[in-house]
Amino acid sequence: MNLIVLVGLMGSGKTTVGRELAKKLNLRFADSDELIEKHAKLSVREIFVEKGEPEFRRLETEALIDACAKDEPTVLAVAGGAVVSEKNRALLVERARCVIWLDAPTSTLVGRTGRAKHRPLLDGDPVGTLNQMRSDRESFYQQIATHKVATQSLNVAQVVDKVIEQCGLSTISGEQK
Ligand code: S3P
Repeated sequence: MNLIVLVGLMGSGKTTVGRELAKKLNLRFADSDELIEKHAKLSVREIFVEKGEPEFRRLETEALIDACAKDEPTVLAVAGGAVVSEKNRALLVERARCVIWLDAPTSTLVGRTGRAKHRPLLDGDPVGTLNQMRSDRESFYQQIATHKVATQSLNVAQVVDKVIEQCGLSTISGEQK
């Protein structure tokens, strides 16, 4: 159980926080979108446009299965929509030492997602879409999260410290070195 998982809506800080958390704990970092892009040799946007969302979701499940199969202690940032799949949720619950749900108000998320190329679903109406995603997905995050961290008034280093404290991770790097 050496997998630390970050979940939450787009813009909640999973990738940024995950990278810093991994650095601080001296663990490997992986991000599901990056794994998909590497495997498909296409960007997330290209996959959505050229192959459609169902194919993206299939690749997403494959990427999570691969990431969860590794023994190496890892911080895994899981893209916002992955929790909609029951299979993905079951996998994460089974494999993760802790699942941290990062959350912030929609206005904060919109500010953070502004220029990201890998979020085609936010092209039209980001506020409306994120609000809809919140109502569609909140119960899934709730279901699988072992911890929830509200990030809106915190900087990245503070979120990292909060995650380490709440999840009792301060000794994990020492254990694994
Ligand atoms: C998505 C989230 C994105 C990316 C894709 C779809 C979603 O990842 O996988 O644009 O459905 O919430 P991040 O959560 O890392 O932004």
